Amino acid sequence: MSKLTAVIRGIEASVPEYELTNKELEKMVDTTEEWIMTRTGIHTRHILKGEGLGTSDMGADAVNKLLAKTNTKPEEVDMVICATVTPDMQFPATANIISDKCGIKNAFSFDLNAACSGFLYALATASKFIESGSHKKVIVVGADKMSSIVDYTDRTTCILFGDAAGAVLLEPSEEGLGIKDSILASDGAGRVYLHQKAGGSVKPASHETVDAREHYVYQEGQPVFKFAVSNMADVAVEIMEKNGLTSDDISWLVPHQANMRIIEATARRMGIKKEQVMINIAKYGNTTNATIPLCIWEWEKQLSKGDNLILAAFGGGFTWGSIYLKWGYDSQ
Ligand code: UT7
Repeated sequence: MSKLTAVIRGIEASVPEYELTNKELEKMVDTTEEWIMTRTGIHTRHILKGEGLGTSDMGADAVNKLLAKTNTKPEEVDMVICATVTPDMQFPATANIISDKCGIKNAFSFDLNAACSGFLYALATASKFIESGSHKKVIVVGADKMSSIVDYTDRTTCILFGDAAGAVLLEPSEEGLGIKDSILASDGAGRVYLHQKAGGSVKPASHETVDAREHYVYQEGQPVFKFAVSNMADVAVEIMEKNGLTSDDISWLVPHQANMRIIEATARRMGIKKEQVMINIAKYGNTTNATIPLCIWEWEKQLSKGDNLILAAFGGGFTWGSIYLKWGYDSQ
């Protein structure tokens, strides 16, 4: 029997309507359109507005569209992973809530937190269940409502993040398509540079933590930038070398969208031309766990069966990683 691999059979996304532009941010904090564009490459980000709406609403919207698009009945799905840093609530898992909202009754579902590398961690985890033969229809969701943890008085972070969700359906392939290899890494020493100070078990929510604005993203941009540039490029080059790939063999680089300069540095190190890099940071900003599926979703029609894709990410933790996959279908 030929070896099973996990192939992406379909992709969908959910992007909230409201667009927060650089011009609007100019009115909120001491910043300029020019500073934001030159330092980050971000023009707008989408924000989920509406009382009582959370990460699971965007996740469920993406999953419902994915089920319809791939002609999959909810009861056929046997596993759901949601990568997120903005769960609806501390518990239960947002993946449980998404499953419930989508009528997925026969799956086990859980959340996975690896910050901006979460979608890659979740994809690699899901692929092992498919490769073992134990699971046949697995949904991986990358979703974040970053606006729920962004301080809109802090000009160093509020310009960066947006809200969105993306979801893929993984199934077994006997043709060698799909996820071929993954390299994942983490270093908890990096936590000091990027974290949320309160709301966890070390510092539960209190009047003091709210007054001190400790429930928002805290980031020291420069050290994160430095580690992101070197680690994301290193891991992407490592996966190429490990699999005997040259830049000519790669159809697309799919990088996490945190900063245009980090994306360009990674592509340069890999020897990939800009036209082969999926870049939509200008429209969506950094949507944390949703950046990579949002890119693949937008480029889906340009992908052909057998295309080699390299996915690469870096995020809080620190966490970083790369996945090499062969695209599974022509989508004309
Ligand atoms: O996705 C998870 C991982 N996260 C990342 O990969 C983010 C990595 N870091 C970055 O992308 C960049 O460090 C930032 C975009 C966050 C910041 O860009 P930078 O070029 O590193 O700027 P900086 O932090 O060195 O700040 C330069 C100056 C400072 O002023 P002084 O000290 O030179 O007077 C900042 O106060 O720019 C100032 N500044 C701003 N000015 C206008 C910071 N934010 C702003 C702003 N508008 N929004």
